[in-house]
Amino acid sequence: MKFNIMKIKLILFLIVIVRAKENSECKEIHLNNVPHKKHVLGMGLNRPYQLAYDLKEHKVFFSYNVGNDTEDTFQIGFLKKGHIKHEEVPDVVNGFAIAIDNKDDVIYFGGSEGIYKHHLKPNSTVEKIVSDRNVWDMFFKHHLYFIEYPSQHLYKCVHEKSGVATEHQKHIHEKIYQFVIDGDEDIFITNETGLYRIKKNTTDRIFYGEPTVFRAIEVNNKGVAYFSAKDGIYVANKTSDTLENVARIKNIFGLAFDNDDNIIYSSPYEIIKLLPERCK
Ligand SMILES: *[C@@H]1O[C@H](CO)[C@@H](O)[C@H](O)[C@H]1NC(C)=O
Ligand SMILES: *[C@@H]1O[C@H](CO)[C@@H](O)[C@H](O)[C@H]1NC(C)=O
Ligand SMILES: *[C@@H]1O[C@H](CO)[C@@H](O)[C@H](O)[C@H]1NC(C)=O
Ligand SMILES: *[C@@H]1O[C@H](CO)[C@@H](O)[C@H](O)[C@H]1NC(C)=O
Ligand SMILES: *[C@@H]1O[C@H](CO)[C@@H](O)[C@H](O)[C@H]1NC(C)=O
Repeated sequence: MKFNIMKIKLILFLIVIVRAKENSECKEIHLNNVPHKKHVLGMGLNRPYQLAYDLKEHKVFFSYNVGNDTEDTFQIGFLKKGHIKHEEVPDVVNGFAIAIDNKDDVIYFGGSEGIYKHHLKPNSTVEKIVSDRNVWDMFFKHHLYFIEYPSQHLYKCVHEKSGVATEHQKHIHEKIYQFVIDGDEDIFITNETGLYRIKKNTTDRIFYGEPTVFRAIEVNNKGVAYFSAKDGIYVANKTSDTLENVARIKNIFGLAFDNDDNIIYSSPYEIIKLLPERCK
């Protein structure tokens, strides 16, 4: 009898330990004050950056570091739905920047030797469409835009009979780090000073104040721009022209959105999706 009570106590004790362990592993993240749970999509990656989500095949594309201790070398990879092991996209030299056109099922990769186009269908190859450009960042809306390194100038890709031509976007005179157009056709740019909004059909730069350094700016399916800074994710309040924090997460490298606008982000080693769930 005594033995059985001891046994029950021991079992209860173990249950408590297991529960406590589960709790410590499942950390809730509050996104817009709603508890969310982390779901790891990919792991063991070195600084996955520049996430892009393929809305049809549910693949997550990203660039990551395959260099050594002294020199960064970048490569493009992707995760298929339900596969934690990533695959590589071949043929893109120092592939770093990614932009996706989910309407036409085309993805673009930018590297140190140009821009490459890849159709999002089985067995499609990677085709180089722009040569001799070192690409820093890219954005797609109606057209492909890219920021060239080291000039930090903005270019737009336009299709011509002879191929793809690149047009310097002189209305963005700044040396910029990032460029996006949101659902209101407002432009957001960042430079060394910080973040500016340029309202549709205007030229004024509206300064947003703190924070001023961003690793990623991505527009979701509804056209809302999300900014990832050192201490979390922000959205713009266009009434006060300030940034509002929606989630406190440190060390975010890249951002993307799935079909339901769930946030996918990358940490220094993982790619994570946030879903509105509680830890049990
Ligand atoms: C690191 O990689 C670069 C480029 O591939 C190479 O030139 C360099 O020798 C490497 N350094 C070390 C310490 O392996
Ligand atoms: C793609 O290539 C694989 C291997 O070469 C082949 O088995 C498959 O049938 C191809 N798929 C399509 C849609 O062409
Ligand atoms: C960034 O852009 C703003 C707006 O054009 C400009 O006022 C500021 O001087 C720029 N910062 C740097 C470091 O060039
Ligand atoms: C306003 O800007 C949009 C793009 O943001 C452009 O298509 C349109 O032609 C512009 N309208 C005027 C009056 O400049
Ligand atoms: C945006 O800023 C305005 C003015 O400060 C404020 O009244 C409003 O509540 C803010 N909007 C959100 C969604 O927080």
